[in-house]
Amino acid sequence: MKISRRNLLARLAFYGSPVAAFGYGSLIERHWLDITRTDIPLASRYNHLDGLKIAVMGDFHFDDWGSRSLIASAVKVVNEEPVDAVILVGDYISDQVGAMEPLCEELSHLRPRFGTFGVMGNHDCWHFDLAIPNLLEKAGVQLLRNRAIDCGEFAIAGLDSYWGGSPDIEFTVKDLDPEKPILSGWHEPDTFDYYKDPRTVLQVSGHTHGGQVRAPFYGPLLLPEFGRKYPYGHYRNENSSLFVTRGIGTLNLPVRFLCPPELAILTMRRDKTA
Ligand SMILES: [Fe+2]
Repeated sequence: MKISRRNLLARLAFYGSPVAAFGYGSLIERHWLDITRTDIPLASRYNHLDGLKIAVMGDFHFDDWGSRSLIASAVKVVNEEPVDAVILVGDYISDQVGAMEPLCEELSHLRPRFGTFGVMGNHDCWHFDLAIPNLLEKAGVQLLRNRAIDCGEFAIAGLDSYWGGSPDIEFTVKDLDPEKPILSGWHEPDTFDYYKDPRTVLQVSGHTHGGQVRAPFYGPLLLPEFGRKYPYGHYRNENSSLFVTRGIGTLNLPVRFLCPPELAILTMRRDKTA
């Protein structure tokens, strides 16, 4: 059968586009760290937090084609900024705990003022091994599984994974000053609707990867359970904010498309509209 030049070009475009998109997403975009900056408005009673800077990283899935250089780049930016606290929103691994060691070696270089705090992801709970908390602790990360830490002007609270663990909000905040503002970490973003605490100025989450692969004019092709209502970005409910990061790593396929790895830097700001 003789194929015309026009027909051949049409076939190449049809079959070649997905291959080219996969190649771009795998070889280029998933290695390209996007540093995003978002202002988080404060209720007026918490204006003393104006300027507080939080870095959010997560969804490393380091056993799935994790890149040390990508983590090292993020750590360098955090240290140069500098930020006041880092919150790691979980899913350090997909299922192979051996990946914790190289990941934690890179994370151990973080130097935020109040410290680095981490919560568990569903994958960390499903494939739990003591190496996860032990190596995080050795790297200087305070793992918060239903635990809160008083940092002076604010508290940081971490909930266990909703999908893979046993979160307990009341227990987590029971000893905190009733007037103190809370920054919380909870892996699954849709949990933002599951409680109401006027002290929570900010919840940070991950889990969705922002979809990881996004179609032009459509958005994420796939979103996980407990991550479908709030897939990515800044959401607000009364005086509380939710920020969902796209995360850094990849799951299932070593590809990101229209959804690059993210280091999110959030700055608390007095709300000028209030
Ligand atoms: Fe997850």
